[in-house]
Amino acid sequence: MTQPTPTLRAANRPRLLDLFSCAGGAGAGYARAGFAVDGCDIVRRLNYPFPYHQGDALTYLARLIDTSEIRRYAFVHASPPCQHGCALTVGTNASQGWGRTHVDLVARTRALLDKTSLPYVIEQPNGRARIRRDLTLCGEMFGLGVIRHRNFELGGWTMEQPAHVPHRGRVRGYRHGRFYDGPYVAAYGSGGGKPSVPELQAAMGIGWTDVREELTEAIPPAYTEFIGRAHLAALNSLGVAA
Ligand SMILES: C[S@@+](CC[C@H](N)C(=O)[O-])C[C@H]1O[C@@H](n2cnc3c(N)ncnc32)[C@H](O)[C@@H]1O
Repeated sequence: MTQPTPTLRAANRPRLLDLFSCAGGAGAGYARAGFAVDGCDIVRRLNYPFPYHQGDALTYLARLIDTSEIRRYAFVHASPPCQHGCALTVGTNASQGWGRTHVDLVARTRALLDKTSLPYVIEQPNGRARIRRDLTLCGEMFGLGVIRHRNFELGGWTMEQPAHVPHRGRVRGYRHGRFYDGPYVAAYGSGGGKPSVPELQAAMGIGWTDVREELTEAIPPAYTEFIGRAHLAALNSLGVAA
């Protein structure tokens, strides 16, 4: 008998909770991999392309756990902001003395994620809050116009680290007063030699927001599409329905 074609209707997809979702760079990749995505961000993100809760991610996650609503989800992604790079002073950030004393949103996020018993991913840039580097991805692995190394801690599951691909050249822009050209753009800041918004969109593979801050905060969707597909493949190989 012919197997039914898997439907991509949202109701039939495994659900993924996208915490600290911003405009959905990570979320879009998981959606492409086959997840139905719901986001949560403390800032009103009108460009987020999926259902979305505005509020403090840790309060929200704690509530989902307390009410057992977390059981709607099969997988969780979290991109907590780094300790020194975020000026937000509301929600968990404020109650923990954000910007004044040591704040570790990563540790608090991990502690709650462990309570969910769900597989999860925590993402951080290089050199910031401490996570286990189970996976490191680079834009060149996906032929993107950014280097954007990102580290991922995998909770409750594993996947293989792909080989790093040598960079094709430099990141375009000024360093110490000297201009360098190159095949990549800098997806941060707005100083000399930085890309225009259309250049950033093309380099990251993100077309649904033209807000520079949202683009510079995002993970390229190619990264999370890769992670999401690997997670679904791992579940399939174990005969587990997500
Ligand atoms: C690094 S960005 C996430 C980028 C996102 N993963 C993407 O790929 O587009 C971090 C986000 O966390 C949000 N944020 C900061 N503190 C928060 C909190 N306590 N609760 C929820 N969101 C928060 C910020 O507004 C920002 O959008």
